[in-house]
Amino acid sequence: MNNDPNLAGKIAVVTGGGSGIGRATALLLARHGARVHVADLNADSAGDVARAIEAAGGSATAHALDVSDPDAVEAFAAKVFATEGHVDILHNNAGIGHAGNIEAITVEDWQRVIGVNLLGVAYGVQAFIPRMLKQGRPASVVNTASQAGLVPAARMAPYCASKYAVVGLSEALNAELSKRGIHVSAICPGIIDTPIVSSGIMRGDMAEIHGRISSFYAKHGASPDEVAQAVLKAIDKRKLIVGVPRRHVTLLNLLHRLSPRLVQPFARNVDRLVRRG
Ligand SMILES: NC(=O)c1ccc[n+]([C@@H]2O[C@H](COP(=O)([O-])OP(=O)(O)OC[C@H]3O[C@@H](n4cnc5c(N)ncnc54)[C@H](O)[C@@H]3O)[C@@H](O)[C@H]2O)c1
Repeated sequence: MNNDPNLAGKIAVVTGGGSGIGRATALLLARHGARVHVADLNADSAGDVARAIEAAGGSATAHALDVSDPDAVEAFAAKVFATEGHVDILHNNAGIGHAGNIEAITVEDWQRVIGVNLLGVAYGVQAFIPRMLKQGRPASVVNTASQAGLVPAARMAPYCASKYAVVGLSEALNAELSKRGIHVSAICPGIIDTPIVSSGIMRGDMAEIHGRISSFYAKHGASPDEVAQAVLKAIDKRKLIVGVPRRHVTLLNLLHRLSPRLVQPFARNVDRLVRRG
């Protein structure tokens, strides 16, 4: 494919497609010709995105879906395959934000963050990939991880745990599946201007600066469109781990690979950056 991949005739599935990165990716894939299944916990926003795609001349179907419910994800995959017969692109993207000092967070927080950000991806993998392996045509799976899946941040232990796991499972799956026709990527966004902070769970110290974190993301965050372009490129160029934007992710990731200790001062002081605005 060239810089303008032609996805005509391709079937794409995007979870968390009603907002932010998922919305931008759904719109971009549709603009390149894919028919897109837009799934989100928020059925209204999924419907809005599907209508926007159709209004622009594309093709889309909206679905209400909770990715943390394995039976619902299985039923969703069965429905898409019954309708389309195959899936060319699966973007496991739905996720939630979470931050808080450890003494302020709860076991329920861990369960929610792991339940959506990690198990939501795992359920997508289990429901879709066995079907994709049988469809007799190559396919791409893109999992949305995070910079916080490559480099740690203080007061984000559950979120980092979920996103490191998404990077790990993506690498393991690509090693298992790439020779069988399914390429798997992990997208690792830095700071992106989406509603993830305003709708996220903030505890303790971080709850006190919730408004400031939201403004920081609005002021310094990259556009979700930049991430959507990176998703398209990951599919087109069969990339494995993609940090986006590179200006946020590359240096810290390299330092971390050199020695995890090197990024501890950064990890410790992330909230200072935010407080400075
Ligand atoms: N915004 C950032 O700075 C950033 C950085 C790194 C990674 N990410 C990751 O990108 C992904 C998308 O986040 P975003 O920034 O676009 O946020 P967003 O809040 O704009 O979009 C997330 C979408 O996921 C949906 N969702 C949440 N829980 C769900 C569930 N259980 N089932 C189905 N849908 C659900 C929400 O309704 C929402 O539409 C997430 O996995 C997030 O962790 C975001």
